[in-house]
Amino acid sequence: MREPTDLPWEARITSRVQETRDIFSVKLELVDPGIRETYRSYPGQYNMLYLFGVGEVPISIVSDPDDAGPLEHTIRAVGRVTHGLERLRVGDTLGLRGPYGRGWPLQAAQGRNVVVISGGLGCAPVVSMIRYMLRRRDDYGQITILQGVKHSNDLIWRRQYQEWEKIRDVQVLLASDQGGPQWPFSVGNVTVLMEKAIIPPEDTVAVLCGPEPMMKAAIPRLLERDVDPFHIWLSIERNMQCGIGHCGHCQVGPHFICQDGPVFRYPDIADWIDREGF
Ligand SMILES: Cc1cc2nc3c(=O)[nH]c(=O)nc-3n(C[C@H](O)[C@H](O)[C@H](O)COP(=O)(O)OP(=O)(O)OC[C@H]3O[C@@H](n4cnc5c(N)ncnc54)[C@H](O)[C@@H]3O)c2cc1C
Ligand code: FES
Repeated sequence: MREPTDLPWEARITSRVQETRDIFSVKLELVDPGIRETYRSYPGQYNMLYLFGVGEVPISIVSDPDDAGPLEHTIRAVGRVTHGLERLRVGDTLGLRGPYGRGWPLQAAQGRNVVVISGGLGCAPVVSMIRYMLRRRDDYGQITILQGVKHSNDLIWRRQYQEWEKIRDVQVLLASDQGGPQWPFSVGNVTVLMEKAIIPPEDTVAVLCGPEPMMKAAIPRLLERDVDPFHIWLSIERNMQCGIGHCGHCQVGPHFICQDGPVFRYPDIADWIDREGF
């Protein structure tokens, strides 16, 4: 496997989809095919995407790690770099380095039930994990997927969720704080879904990704359902610059989110959730 590089490779946009008003997905082909052949990522890791002359941002890898094709990223345009990336079109190039970070505990989850709880664009870092598990369906028990959004228009990948819920022992529950005429799912936040969710107390691993207040609200409900705190994992976001443990921008207490995370076991990060966040 190729080690992550400190210098960006050139990557070309091969497809672009506008998912919502401010969220878009791009597929990126590494211009040097030899690099793609040895590039391997793990669900939950991220790449640093470099808009030439503007700056770099960490963005989760959405693609299935088993897929040797272009690397897929889903991005919300919020500021300088992401607004610039939003303006790029098919054929344009950008810089890419990675993969970085510690991903989801797929080995620890093997043979167990898995509850995936995400809010907003927190669905992006968990999608490659879900794809990974569904490709190895017999290696995992019940898979429960909960996704919450603020507004019904914010839901992306609706068809994908509908496909997943047809699979054996997969439960998918979707909620929006604000519903609407085209919203057949639950209204409320993601914690409302937890009342309907299949969460076996024995042998369950929970993974959470999204706004920290959402994760902070969901964790006590998992604990009430007797999920072992050591089997609860969170993906944490902080402002990053280098991605390789040099600049200190991502430091949270003793942790460097870029390298020690972004995925942490709950007891290791419990004191730092929702502190110094965005
Ligand atoms: C490990 C990791 C994985 C990520 N994966 C994705 C992803 O898959 N898709 C995606 O769209 N974004 C993802 N992000 C967030 C993304 O990196 C930021 O949105 C981006 O860095 C913003 O840069 P900017 O120059 O566009 O905005 P800036 O000009 O730097 O900031 C604009 C506004 O956005 C806020 N902001 C900046 N960074 C973040 C952040 N990390 N979280 C919340 N608010 C922020 C700032 O406070 C400011 O208000 C991830 C972040 C991390 C740490
Ligand atoms: S981003 Fe520089 S130390 Fe983590």
